[in-house]
Amino acid sequence: MELKNKNVLITGSSRGIGLAIAHKFASLGANIILNGRGQVSEEVLDEFAKYLVKVLAVSGDVSDSADAKRMVEEATTAMGSIDVLVNNAGITKDKLMLKLTEEDFEQVLKVNLTGAFNMTQAVLKPMTKARQGAIINMSSVVGLTGNIGQANYAASKAGLIGFSKSVAREVAARNIRVNVIAPGFIESDMTDGLPDKIKEASLAQIPMKRFGNTEEVAEVAVFLASQEYVTGQVIAIDGGLTMQ
Ligand SMILES: NC(=O)c1ccc[n+]([C@@H]2O[C@H](COP(=O)([O-])OP(=O)(O)OC[C@H]3O[C@@H](n4cnc5c(N)ncnc54)[C@H](OP(=O)(O)O)[C@@H]3O)[C@@H](O)[C@H]2O)c1
Repeated sequence: MELKNKNVLITGSSRGIGLAIAHKFASLGANIILNGRGQVSEEVLDEFAKYLVKVLAVSGDVSDSADAKRMVEEATTAMGSIDVLVNNAGITKDKLMLKLTEEDFEQVLKVNLTGAFNMTQAVLKPMTKARQGAIINMSSVVGLTGNIGQANYAASKAGLIGFSKSVAREVAARNIRVNVIAPGFIESDMTDGLPDKIKEASLAQIPMKRFGNTEEVAEVAVFLASQEYVTGQVIAIDGGLTMQ
């Protein structure tokens, strides 16, 4: 898919990986719809002026189906269509299983997995009519391997993989592709807060001996949106962490 003048909605793009993805698509001439639960700041919006593309911010909670529908409607009214959806919004609530409450479990599932369901369902009908579209779901290597203290997060990210492959099969004949990115340890607000001990232990396990950066994840998103014959795949970007 040629990305110039295409409309790309990225959930959770007020900062971190989502914001880097938005910049990468904008630099290739795509129009951008940013999202976060809060207002996207003027500062963040101003940084897009240099690309000379349309930029819209829609605030809302992806875990709320009414919010998801409203955001997609707002974006479609302003831009005309949504050609690429990146389900990137995600949260963690890390605790060992014995301490994990039902609420901790459900909240993470609701944002990370139900959020992607809500947004996908809201964009899929018009994409089906247009017989064109790309959906990219942001999983994690933790969804492939599991991780101590992340039973809720791992369940949500593994769930996204099964969800993506199922939807990919349903819509492939309509020329809509659904793929998954599984990042390893990427420098962002989400990982900045981790204790140094955990960061050091993670680094020791990464064959490339460094963490990834948000731009590198954005390059994978651009690949998955623009190429036209890859669907139902999971691409790990993790410095070799999960290589078989
Ligand atoms: N960083 C890593 O190492 C890493 C590794 C593997 C996978 N991932 C995944 O990559 C994605 C982005 O991670 P990140 O590190 O960039 O996270 P981040 O810096 O914490 O940013 C998360 C983004 O999601 C938004 N968000 C959170 N809950 C939301 C909701 N209910 N509705 C709408 N937006 C919501 C946040 O904005 P508001 O706070 O304004 O809502 C923010 O824009 C996540 O899905 C994460 O699980 C990250």
